[in-house]
Amino acid sequence: MLRLVRANWIQRVSCNIQKMQTDGKLFVGRMFSVQDSLPKLPVPPLEQTVQKYLRTVQPLLSDEEYANTLKIVKDFEKDPGPKLQNLLEKRAQRETNWLSDWWMNTAYLDFRQPVTVNVSPGVVFPKQNYSDKEGQLRFTAKLISGLLSYKTMIDQQTLPVEKMGKQSLCMMQYYKILCGCRIPGRKKDTWVCYPPDEANPPRHVIIAHNNAFFSMDLYGSNNQPLNTEQLHVQLKHVVRQSKEVETPIGLLTTENRNKWAKSYELLLKDKENKVSLSELHRSICVICVDNQLPDSAAGEEESTAARMMLHGGGSQLNSANRWCDKTLQFIVGKNGVCGLNYEHTTAEGPPIISIVDHILDYCSKSEDKSAPAPDVKAPRKLKFNITFPELKNNIEEAVENIDSMVKDVDLNVFKFTEYGKNFPKSQKLSPDSYLQMAFQLAYFRLYSKPCATYETASLRQFQLGRTDTIRSCSIESFEFSKGMLDPAVSTQKKAELLRKAVTGHKNYVAEAIKGQGIDRHLLGLKLVALQNNMKVPTLHMDMAYSLSSHHNISTSQVPAKYEACLVFGPTVPDGYGVCYNPQEKQIIFGVSAFNCCPETVSMKFIDSIQQSLRDMKAVLEGSIQSKL
Ligand code: COA
Repeated sequence: MLRLVRANWIQRVSCNIQKMQTDGKLFVGRMFSVQDSLPKLPVPPLEQTVQKYLRTVQPLLSDEEYANTLKIVKDFEKDPGPKLQNLLEKRAQRETNWLSDWWMNTAYLDFRQPVTVNVSPGVVFPKQNYSDKEGQLRFTAKLISGLLSYKTMIDQQTLPVEKMGKQSLCMMQYYKILCGCRIPGRKKDTWVCYPPDEANPPRHVIIAHNNAFFSMDLYGSNNQPLNTEQLHVQLKHVVRQSKEVETPIGLLTTENRNKWAKSYELLLKDKENKVSLSELHRSICVICVDNQLPDSAAGEEESTAARMMLHGGGSQLNSANRWCDKTLQFIVGKNGVCGLNYEHTTAEGPPIISIVDHILDYCSKSEDKSAPAPDVKAPRKLKFNITFPELKNNIEEAVENIDSMVKDVDLNVFKFTEYGKNFPKSQKLSPDSYLQMAFQLAYFRLYSKPCATYETASLRQFQLGRTDTIRSCSIESFEFSKGMLDPAVSTQKKAELLRKAVTGHKNYVAEAIKGQGIDRHLLGLKLVALQNNMKVPTLHMDMAYSLSSHHNISTSQVPAKYEACLVFGPTVPDGYGVCYNPQEKQIIFGVSAFNCCPETVSMKFIDSIQQSLRDMKAVLEGSIQSKL
């Protein structure tokens, strides 16, 4: 049934777009004004993809391995490559976006590991100025008011179209952020959405406090939003009604998806649980008012805050005060620590950060003077009956699992304050590509080898576009890393190698964001084979393919106006997750690793990145081009 709801909804969104394209009636606002003129995601030429593929796997393979891969690729180009390409091109003609549904399933809904740490990023806001419960609730009320003012722009479609340079971007992710929820399934999850133009759109948020969940209306009887003072009163009511810590039912949402699906089915057998789950799914978002904050050593406050946003700190801290299936969860902790966590199925970081920037702008302004909304209902506590002994056991297991997951995560945030993106710009280098080369050098210094590296490339220039991969490890980055660490190489030569590697990366970026990346194309060729009952091509089973998809460094740039930092877990057990916010005069990094892998240590990688940034600046300043 839920699956059907999701399928219908996705179909409905596509239909809406089609309709908008033909009669312009449904999406009339500014936000979707250019949606129908955005291009469709292209299918890159087959030969171009395989040539690029060979170049990116070369630094990761021995000569013998490369020769074997070369043969596999040449065979693929003869058969079944052209057949698959043809099928993919036909799909691209039929669909608004040949990739978007496949991507949502493959990257998210089919994924069985817990969403916590593995899928859902956290965002740490700059520390806010409150230190007691009253201040915490006042800030929460203001945050909700800021959120409501943003939501009004989404609902009325007045948000300006986002741009990358001069290029307008697809705004569909904004439409889905404040109304979506993931639902666990035994083999595959589903995704439901209650968009603002539904007959009965969501009008409430869920407040989590002491592991209890409350449904709190944000609008009065005439659809007028509650003002900040009213929201504050409502929040105080919630806190009064949840003085004791409750059964940690929210922990079930941090579990392996198959396990959570089994518990979910048991929960649904009870009528009251069913109503509570529906309230959760239909909400605008979850607001977690946290009670616990672990002590943190001086200078480590931001890293502690980042862990609260990523996983909540474990069963004894805030991990149960979450509903991790919900697309957006704002987290307001003690002593000014706040941020959010988002389930990734429908959106990338940039739209989320746009909401964050708006809310922080709003919170820094004066008090809300709007009139109170009439007929405000008191928040309603959601009831959960844990009747089956199996459910009790599952919650106990969830406690153990989250605690061991928390122990396994090694996450640190650091601010590099010696310079920001202005320095590479002054050297006529792309800051993003420059930072990617710093990661390559940092890794090479520690492990004396290059590694497959993922960087997110936005495909939002296209209708319903999501992401492709920028393969940051290249022949040029390998040459640069080796050269930088070789004392026999001159400063001049090192600077040349750096410039060449940065330019090579920037070219890859330019092609990837124009839909000419290789990873989603290769994925498409594999999926179209499966869809047509053909075998998985040998290329996709070759060790070069798995090696180049085993991302020992997984990265994303998420710029923000404020000193906010996004954090996520590594995508492989022996990898690093690196997110960065390059500001003009400083760069904020969130770096994660897993403790179960003794070779990867976040602080070790952070130190090496800092060293790289210093060395790279030194060689550029010491070389002739810089002095010209
Ligand atoms: N000389 C001088 N300045 C340069 C330059 C050069 N050679 N190259 C770039 N710049 C400038 C740019 O004009 C830009 O200026 P601005 O600060 O005024 O905006 C700035 O440097 C940043 O450019 P750059 O560092 O090259 O990055 P970008 O903004 O083009 O972003 C990506 C590159 C790959 C991060 C971006 O295209 C992208 O795809 N982002 C996806 C993010 C995402 O979805 N993340 C997911 C998180 S879950």
